[in-house]
Amino acid sequence: MTSPAQLLDQLRQIVGAANVLTDGDLTAWELDWRRRERGRALAVVRPGTTEEVAAVVKACAAAGVSMVPQGGNTGMVVGSTPDASGTQVVLSLTRMNRVRALDAGNLTITVDAGCVLQSLQDECEKAGFLFPLSLASEGSCTIGGNLGTNAGGTQVVRYGNTRELCLGLEVVTAQGEIWNGLTGLRKDNTGYDLRHLFIGSEGTLGVITGATMKLYPMPKAQLTAFAAVPSLEDAVKLLGLAHQHLSSGLTGFEVMGQFALSLVAKHFPQQRVPFWQESPWCVVLENSDNESEAHARDCFERLLEAAMEAGHVTDAVVAESMAQAHALWHIRESIPLAQAEEGLNIKHDISINVSRIPEFVNETNALLLERFPGARLVTYGHLGDGNLHYNVQAPEGDDQARFLNEEEAPMNELVYEVVDRYNGSISAEHGIGSLKADKLAHHKSPVALGLMRSIKQALDPQNLMNPNRVIKA
Ligand code: FAD
Ligand code: MLT
Ligand code: ZN
Repeated sequence: MTSPAQLLDQLRQIVGAANVLTDGDLTAWELDWRRRERGRALAVVRPGTTEEVAAVVKACAAAGVSMVPQGGNTGMVVGSTPDASGTQVVLSLTRMNRVRALDAGNLTITVDAGCVLQSLQDECEKAGFLFPLSLASEGSCTIGGNLGTNAGGTQVVRYGNTRELCLGLEVVTAQGEIWNGLTGLRKDNTGYDLRHLFIGSEGTLGVITGATMKLYPMPKAQLTAFAAVPSLEDAVKLLGLAHQHLSSGLTGFEVMGQFALSLVAKHFPQQRVPFWQESPWCVVLENSDNESEAHARDCFERLLEAAMEAGHVTDAVVAESMAQAHALWHIRESIPLAQAEEGLNIKHDISINVSRIPEFVNETNALLLERFPGARLVTYGHLGDGNLHYNVQAPEGDDQARFLNEEEAPMNELVYEVVDRYNGSISAEHGIGSLKADKLAHHKSPVALGLMRSIKQALDPQNLMNPNRVIKA
């Protein structure tokens, strides 16, 4: 049996001593972004190539040591940090950050999994293309993490989530073999589509080391508007009108409740947040146009006029420049950061058919506030995709640790019970990680759970890839 010390020696030989971190401050790899759990790793290992990843996985598998793949460590469900045992190896992919190839004719880019999303977007833009995945964490999250979680973000309404953007994968299996599935093909029906097993598997089936992703032509114009809407019902009506008026030009549609915006105004006073004091809800929407800016503006104006006439919008601004557009988006993207500034919080990343969202929110608000008086509801999210962040902040002045310890479980139960009645999902885009692993059993059918267990058993029979995340042994 290999001892931990012997394994560490082997790992140093594979990736170099400087890339096996065991001492010093490992907070960046051991503490999750939301500061929910602090783990302890046997080591943080930073391979530089796919072959090194394969050798590391083989060595860990031979020693019976479990591994936690990690990208930017921005995940929301405690899935990328080690447990508290001090026995797990964190496999950090961030040194693997090369663009391998850009095929302009095929509209694809092939990259290492550790590429930071923003640098990937920038590379594509430099070459005249759009890579449309867009998240507020894009300055640190990696494409491997985006694929591992099947991340959503703010452009899903038009381009789909990360799964839809991926054509091929390279994966190191739990046995340390390299599967090269880096195809740029848009059609390939040669049996089971293995790529889809690994996408969204949160590091529990293998390590994604490379990916071939779709590119899009840069739109001629991108316009952003910020609108005040009297109710969530009106926001849904506005969404319907936006689909009609803008068709595939509608590339973003986000809703923000008044309290969510008040947190941005409070914690980031340098940002000018329009309408939040007078409107219960606001929407930020984006129109990407392949004709011209004038055409984009014309369509947007007709949409907003129709919406105002019908009473679905009470006031609106359309950005006059890219700088203004960024500022409006920045308000939306600052909500999770403002929530973190306000303190620990409870997140519900849920999806419901868009048409039923207002009814869901009215019903859940009433039940929740009756049971947890004073709880502060931070409701916002990707309304265009039927995905709400139905988050909750402790009552003003309450002890936050007490709030989480005592109220999180019953509050989750209350919210997810309503989600189930509306045939929704308890994780629209953040995944399951450890935070929701126990809940999965209550919200997926026994048949679905059985199939998931069979897949895990077949691909990772030793249960060494991110064990106890997603599906418990
Ligand atoms: P990590 O956090 O490092 O890992 C996440 C999961 O993927 C873990 O289970 C890990 O084991 C696994 N993993 C990581 N790399 C690999 C790999 N190479 N191979 C296999 N598995 C791997 N998410 C959204 O979906 N939409 C949003 O709009 C959104 N907004 C956010 C805003 C903020 C401010 C923050 C902090 C987070 C947000 N997130 C959002 C959550 C997070 O950014 C995403 O889940 C992102 O995809 C995680 O990428 P990462 O590289 O940080 O992955
Ligand atoms: C976002 O859309 O901003 C994040 O996914 C939400 C969150 O942090 O709850
Ligand atoms: Zn989100």
